Amino acid sequence: MSSDNRVFVCSVSELAPGSMKLVEREEGNLTVYNVDGAFFVTEDRCSHGLASLSQGEIIGDEIECPMHFGSFRIATGEPVAAPCSVAIRTYKVAMDGDQVFALV
Ligand code: FES
Repeated sequence: MSSDNRVFVCSVSELAPGSMKLVEREEGNLTVYNVDGAFFVTEDRCSHGLASLSQGEIIGDEIECPMHFGSFRIATGEPVAAPCSVAIRTYKVAMDGDQVFALV
C-alpha cells in the first residue's frame, strides 16, 4: 500500500513548456516545471542556500538557482553546476486529466 499523498500543483493549461511555478505548502514549498511538455516537481529550496528555485531560470532540462547560479537536473535533482553539490528532492508526478499532482 502506498502512503503517497497527492498534492495538486497546477493544471496542464496554466504552465507552458519552459515555465515553472512555486507551490507553497506548510511542509515545504515545491516547484513544478514544464520541460518540453513533461511535468516535474522538486523541492523549491536550493540545497546550497536559502534561495527559491522557482525564482531561477530553466535552461534546457536544468534549473539554475537565482542566488549563486548553481544548477540541478530537474528530472533527477542531481547537482550539475557548482556551487551546488547536494541533490534536491524530486517527487513523482501523477496526471489526472488537465490536473497535475505531486506524490509527496
Ligand atoms: S543558494 Fe542556490 S546556488 Fe547558492
